[in-house]
Amino acid sequence: MVKMLDKINRNTQKQSQHPIFNNAQVIPEGWYFLCQSKELRPKQIKDFKIGAQKLVVYRGESGKVYTLDSYCAHMGADFKIGKVVAENIQCFFHQWQYAGSGNCVKIPCQAEIPARAKVQAYPTVEKYGAVWCYAGPIAHTPLLEVPDLEGKETITRFDRANFSKGHHHISMINGIDPQHLATVHDLNIQMELEVQEDQTQIFFSLTGDTPRGSWTEKMMYFFIGKRYCYQMKYADACLASLTILKNVYFLKESWKWPALHMFYAYRPLEDGSSLTFPIYITSLEPGVWGKIKSHFRLWLTKRLYYFLKDDDEIIYDNIRFNTHNLLNMDAPVSRYIRYVNKLKKSLWSIDCDHA
Ligand code: FES
Ligand SMILES: [Fe+2]
Repeated sequence: MVKMLDKINRNTQKQSQHPIFNNAQVIPEGWYFLCQSKELRPKQIKDFKIGAQKLVVYRGESGKVYTLDSYCAHMGADFKIGKVVAENIQCFFHQWQYAGSGNCVKIPCQAEIPARAKVQAYPTVEKYGAVWCYAGPIAHTPLLEVPDLEGKETITRFDRANFSKGHHHISMINGIDPQHLATVHDLNIQMELEVQEDQTQIFFSLTGDTPRGSWTEKMMYFFIGKRYCYQMKYADACLASLTILKNVYFLKESWKWPALHMFYAYRPLEDGSSLTFPIYITSLEPGVWGKIKSHFRLWLTKRLYYFLKDDDEIIYDNIRFNTHNLLNMDAPVSRYIRYVNKLKKSLWSIDCDHA
C-alpha cells in the first residue's frame, strides 16, 4: 500500500511512501556489511549503526565474530566501551558478561542470572574478507555468492565508501535504468533484458549489440567488440553484485575478456542517506602468473567502475525520487521496486510490527 506524504511541493508534485522501497523507516532482513575482517582483531569491539539500529561486533579470543544489540540489558551501558573476555563481551558499568548468543553468563555481585538478562544476537559470517551480519534473529538466506565464483578461492579489494544524501534503494537502480545510459553516460544501447526473481533475490541480465555512434560508444566497440553483456544480482535490497564483460570478446572472436565482478554493499543511515561500499572480487588463480592475472582483474574492475561512477554521483545527491511517471522503458526499475516492496521488514525497522 502506498500512502501520500505531506512534503514540500506537494500541490504540484505528488510524492508517495512505499512500504519498503526508499523508506528510511524500514530496514529489510538481509546480510549487511559491517567492516573488513582485518579491521577486527581478536578481542576488539566495534560499533555500527544501520538505520537507527545500534550494534556491536566483537571478535572472541578464538577468532570467532559475534554481533549483538549495543546496549546492556542491565542499565543500558553501550557495549562499545566494554571489553572481550574469552568469547564473551563484558559491560563496562557493572561487568555483566554476555556470550555471543546474547545470553548473560555472569553477574559479579550474585550467582543467579535472571532469565531476562539477555540481549538480541544476530547471525554473523566472514566471507570475501569482510564481516557481515543478518538483520534478524535467524538468517533465512545465506550471504549472496558472487556469480560464477561459487566454491572458488577468491581475493577481494575494498574501495573507500561513497556517501549519498539519498536512500540506497535509489542508487541501486543505476545499473538497470536504461534511459540514463544514453543521457548520462552517452551510451545509446538497446538492451535485451532477462529477469529472474525469488523471494529475496532478483537477477537482471542485459545484453545487446554495441553501438558505434558517440566517441564513448566507439571506444567501447573497440574494446569489447560487437556484443556486450552485464548482469546485476540484488539480494535483500542491501547488497548488489555486478558482473561485467561476461562472454565479451576483445578485438577478435578468439580473445575473450575475463568476467569481472564487484559487490556494492549498502548501509542505510538513520536520516535516509546512505553509504555504498564498493568491493572488487575475483578468483585467486594458482602460481605467480595466476596471481598477477587475478590482481590485474581487480585493477580493471576498479577502472571500469570509476569510468561510470563519477557521472552518476551527482544524481543521487540531488533527487527526490518519485514513481508516478515511469515509462514502459523503465520496466526494470518498476520490477525492482515491486521486488523490494515484497521483502520482509526486520526488527531494525522503526515501524516494525513485532518490535
Ligand atoms: S549497565 Fe551493563 S552491567 Fe550494568
Ligand atoms: Fe550510471
